Amino acid sequence: MATTPTPSSAARDRDAEILGRGEVNDLEAIISVANTDVTEAIHTVSDNADAIFTWDYEKGARPALNKLYEKAKHSQWNGETDLDWSIEVDQEKFAQAVSEMRRAGLAEKGISLAGTPFASWGDKEWTALSMESQNWSLSQFMHGEQGALLCTAKIVETVPWIDAKYYAATQVMDEARHVEVFAKYLDTKLNGHYPINAHLKMLLDDIINDSRWDMTYLGMQIMVEGLALAAFGMAHQTTPDPLLKQLLRYVMGDEARHVAFGVLSLKEFYDGLTDAEMLERQEFAFEAAVRMRDRFLQQEVWARMGIDVKEAVKMFDVSAEEKNKDPFQQLLFSKIVPNCKKLGLLDANDGWLRKRFDTLGVSQFEDWVDTGEEYELLDEVSKDRDAATGS
Ligand SMILES: [Fe+2]
Ligand SMILES: [Fe+2]
Repeated sequence: MATTPTPSSAARDRDAEILGRGEVNDLEAIISVANTDVTEAIHTVSDNADAIFTWDYEKGARPALNKLYEKAKHSQWNGETDLDWSIEVDQEKFAQAVSEMRRAGLAEKGISLAGTPFASWGDKEWTALSMESQNWSLSQFMHGEQGALLCTAKIVETVPWIDAKYYAATQVMDEARHVEVFAKYLDTKLNGHYPINAHLKMLLDDIINDSRWDMTYLGMQIMVEGLALAAFGMAHQTTPDPLLKQLLRYVMGDEARHVAFGVLSLKEFYDGLTDAEMLERQEFAFEAAVRMRDRFLQQEVWARMGIDVKEAVKMFDVSAEEKNKDPFQQLLFSKIVPNCKKLGLLDANDGWLRKRFDTLGVSQFEDWVDTGEEYELLDEVSKDRDAATGS
């Protein structure tokens, strides 16, 4: 049976510098990070970047980016009018079904609730947990979308190529629409918001803080949006709500273009980097992957339900090590890993990032389809328009 590789002590020291902890699966260290600014109305981050003009206006000098830009202009949609907000959403009913599955899953694994904080829970608490979990997930989607809005506005300023500035400008509009529709769904269809998760916040701050334009791309387009694309895909498949399904379908069509934008732009740029420069990018990708995985513990949900996070993790995840083998968690990396491979990030420096991805249990996706071209297949807005006009 495959075992998770043990990193050398030198590797652990470097990981400690990158992550703030030497052991990637250290649960105590993960849950000790909490968002202390939960009541703040605004949050300020220095973006440390020069705004760059280019006087080279030749449109289409980068044909792949130009094609993406034309596609983006064509496939804009309106969050107010292209979704049917009149659909009634019975969150409690859906949550009940989810909680029944969750309990059946525990029973199937032979896990007893006796002696745990869950022993006294009835239908009401289990349903409440599922509702809180959905509120939390959609809230994190919304906060991540705002991160994307800020990052792409920054890319418009900092990327030196006109085709990329044009494309990034369309993405700013896309992300504004995404924040808008998730916020509206939370406000009008669900029963509560959550502040941003501490790990997600730390990651977004790091991405925006970095002065190098390509790091905005790597952190946002490849890592955060790669994970979002996979997460939206899973939510789209599992939600019984036709409104959320349609919302996610359109958002995913946009996200596939966004990840493609990252892959197409960075491929050109990374081909010219030295090994030392590539290592910095590999470390950044690893840090982003771990921060994103850390947030899956949903620690704020457990706090709201009055359950100790460690108890909950013991119950549902067994251990962080086991969690790495969770097929749902692994699938969340199914877009990120092939894209990292295409960019040369997996293999550079003697496979530095592949070894780290091995410790997270996600390297097996390296030969899955990358997102450089996939956006064509996921253009749901065009599909619906073609169907409506019979073309
Ligand atoms: Fe988005
Ligand atoms: Fe996006």
